[in-house]
Amino acid sequence: MERKGVLYVINGPNLNLLGRREPTLYGKATLGEIEELCRLWGRERGVEVRTFQSNHEGELVDLVHRGGDEADGIVLNGAAYSHTSIALRDAVAAVSVPVVEVHLTNTAARESFRRHSYLTAVAAGLVMGFGPRSYLLALEALN
Ligand code: DQA
Repeated sequence: MERKGVLYVINGPNLNLLGRREPTLYGKATLGEIEELCRLWGRERGVEVRTFQSNHEGELVDLVHRGGDEADGIVLNGAAYSHTSIALRDAVAAVSVPVVEVHLTNTAARESFRRHSYLTAVAAGLVMGFGPRSYLLALEALN
């Protein structure tokens, strides 16, 4: 398939609050700063990185579908929906482009309800635990 030169970065619920949300866990970087890092990563490589955030499950499903049409790959931090949403899992399974699941924190080392993600089994891969660098490592994997 022909390359579009576009990668999507999609963030789920509560990640709009990064920077002031539990900073001891999630760090001080805002979502805007992380998105800018991702776009900069793209500019240095001739890839257009398009960033999105939604607190709404159905909107995230729509964004994954859109990424499937418009992008060569998707970086997805489904946040809490990773642990609960079969709809988001089905969206990831439905698109033909690779989706890399990311988390800022190492969810395997946290509460037991975070240890299972519906997305992992249908994702191309998983990067977690490296803070904002998780996103860059995921972009690297898709490039
Ligand atoms: C998170 C981990 C999730 O368990 C949590 O619900 C989030 C953020 C992360 O990036 O570490 O909102 O996805």
